[in-house]
Amino acid sequence: MNIRLSHLLLVSVLTISTHQISAQTRTDAKKEVEHWITIGADSLTGLQERFGNLMKKMDVRDGIAVMKLREEDRNALSDHMHQKHHRCGGFIVHESYEDAKQTLNGIRKRKWIRQHQFLEYSIDQDETVLPMLADVDEANIAQVISHLSSYHNRYYKSQSGVESSKWIGEKWFSLTNGRSDVSLELMDHPRFPQQSVILTIKGSSETDEIIVIGGHADSIAGYWGGSKNHAPGADDNASGIATMTEIIRVAMAHDYKPYKTVQFMAYAAEEVGLVGSNLIAKKYKQENKHVVGVIQLDMTNYKGSDEYDIVMMDDYTNAAQNQFLGQLIDHYVKVPWGFSRCGYACSDHASWSKNGYPASMPHEATMQDGNPHIHSTRDTIDKSNDNGEHAANFAKLGLAYMVELAKQ
Ligand code: BES
Ligand code: ZN
Repeated sequence: MNIRLSHLLLVSVLTISTHQISAQTRTDAKKEVEHWITIGADSLTGLQERFGNLMKKMDVRDGIAVMKLREEDRNALSDHMHQKHHRCGGFIVHESYEDAKQTLNGIRKRKWIRQHQFLEYSIDQDETVLPMLADVDEANIAQVISHLSSYHNRYYKSQSGVESSKWIGEKWFSLTNGRSDVSLELMDHPRFPQQSVILTIKGSSETDEIIVIGGHADSIAGYWGGSKNHAPGADDNASGIATMTEIIRVAMAHDYKPYKTVQFMAYAAEEVGLVGSNLIAKKYKQENKHVVGVIQLDMTNYKGSDEYDIVMMDDYTNAAQNQFLGQLIDHYVKVPWGFSRCGYACSDHASWSKNGYPASMPHEATMQDGNPHIHSTRDTIDKSNDNGEHAANFAKLGLAYMVELAKQ
């Protein structure tokens, strides 16, 4: 069953159970009915905050928890899952503890995970990942940022916007040593000249699963933008593209061959409404492409927050994958990380989320500590001490994410 079909099914199951609750509440208002639910364990923290003692965590195994829930709290839970985790439901109601517990046994686990959009995340690729991390070089990142910010702008309608995207494609392809499992695509758009760039490392297996590592290639300055404005966009988002470039360089230098397909995407026209990524994500959905994970690298080189080096945006993103990225940071990158929120569809991850794919945006700082220079002529690399040190953390995270997700 594909992701969207299971999603639809889950929505309909929830709709039915919501009707049942209200019917039952009307006829039997005083009786307190308790049920058991199974739920992704990554949701527990938020739930405990909100429901306190009402919910008793009974048993957790393989990322799934069984717990008791009063029927009257079920709507609140559904609401919570929408608001906090952007999932429709993400939990199942069972009539008995026995029934709930059965979902924790190994035989049914895989099915449960498939039906509820959870991947089986695991971390066991030290042998491949650690040597790669040792090779990440911030100087390469700084160099690419400097080159990309030397264009007058990378605006989606300007000649320099066209040329800078072509340069990204050429740069990426030059790193791949003519490998026959790697290909480059420049995607045209019907209404403007800037192309989106897609570099594909074809998986070594026949699986149709795809991992997407993306960021936007364009830049903008001034409220209305414009082809004439000077928009160096060093942080927003030469930094993300430079981070991806370093991931590709290191992967190729290590002759890395993924089991699943990995695609690097430099989207056109993000700054004017996520246009490039929307086109791609919609097309992928129409073509039933099986994207199992997306990360968006948009602004990685400005260290705005003292307490965190990496901040996971918790809106328009997938909570389970965000949690997994946190675990990858703890295991591989070993820097402090936290959560923040854009509050709106602030970048290309939202295009993927809206089309039903699990996406995350690991970001350089919390929203309140953000880079104040973006979208102006002042967005230059000197605001990041003329180096790529902060972004190097994101190259490491991207490498770890790619290897751990694209493995067999
Ligand atoms: N990189 C920004 C988004 C961003 C800014 C994230 C600050 C976190 C902190 C992105 O390029 C952008 O500018 N997005 C637009 C919205 C988009 C839909 C045009 C924005 O934030 O105004
Ligand atoms: Zn921007």
